[in-house]
Amino acid sequence: MVGQKKRVAVIAGDGIGPEVIDEAVRIIERVQQTHGINLDLTNFDWGAERYLRDGVTLPDGALDLLRREYDAVLAGAFGDPRVPSNKHAEDILLGMRRGLDLYINLRPIRLLNARLTPLRNREVKDIDFVVFRENTEGAYCGAGGFLKKGTPDEIATQEELNTQGGVERIIRAAFEYARTRGRHRVTMADKSNVQRFGGDLWQRVFREVASRYPEIEANHQYVDAMAMFMVLDPGQYDVVVSNNLFGDILTDLGAALQGGLGLAASGNIHPGQVSVFEPVHGSAPPLAGKSVANPVGAILSTAMMLEWLGFELAATSIERAVKEAIADDQTTRDL
Ligand code: IPM
Ligand code: MN
Repeated sequence: MVGQKKRVAVIAGDGIGPEVIDEAVRIIERVQQTHGINLDLTNFDWGAERYLRDGVTLPDGALDLLRREYDAVLAGAFGDPRVPSNKHAEDILLGMRRGLDLYINLRPIRLLNARLTPLRNREVKDIDFVVFRENTEGAYCGAGGFLKKGTPDEIATQEELNTQGGVERIIRAAFEYARTRGRHRVTMADKSNVQRFGGDLWQRVFREVASRYPEIEANHQYVDAMAMFMVLDPGQYDVVVSNNLFGDILTDLGAALQGGLGLAASGNIHPGQVSVFEPVHGSAPPLAGKSVANPVGAILSTAMMLEWLGFELAATSIERAVKEAIADDQTTRDL
């Protein structure tokens, strides 16, 4: 056995979650044999079914249990038409992101095969960057409220929270990644021309952190311009860092550039602590149970998890196998 045993909590979730996670688990079982790694998987039934049955979303003590007993979490997808409020998904997914303080949402945007991108005349090398999405604050903080609700004078406020520490640690993580992975440029996207306060904080912290990484080019773009340039000139990006909401939007665009949401992987990470790996796609209820869901997002998220757990060779083998399967046309029909 290479290295020590690692414990992984598996939360397959709703819709296509269980079927894509089944495929990911088959891959884990395979690399346990081929790479001699030692993973202990435990399934958790958190999701819509459980919520409808007993009203429990994220069970009491769940976060402590994950922190205490597990090295990583592999999650499928959450969302079910029988729960229109999506309460369980918010409690489970956003609950883990916030409650485990998983401040990095790492989302690679990598074209695995030139035929997959909807852009014309792009090669694999033209689309290869990573997004560091802030994952614990911003517009996802839940602050705000209604005044005079239901009247013609109704006022709804939706606040965005930016803390110095929160902004500093995600920008630092992006620069640190660039330094250790030999990436040359970090691009920060904000809307500081309009969002004077939060944007100003991001600008100041970005300049300060960048000054500690003189070998890395620090680049700034307004997020609307970045959305345009991601389509017109994706090759300019190496490492991108942005807040929670802009990062959410840019990474769906990025997923489209690499061939679709079915391929996109992500890690919700707090270095040194239990972290959650999940495909970017949702639960896609109309596709569930039809054997058409693309498991590649879940499989590449598994590879990210293995890399993060220290099994780099297994992770690289999985990525190579996915690339070969796509090159051989051994894929689901979305590709
Ligand atoms: C994502 C999703 C979530 C988000 C939703 C389901 C709350 O879109 O993981 O990108 O907005 O973060
Ligand atoms: Mn999203």
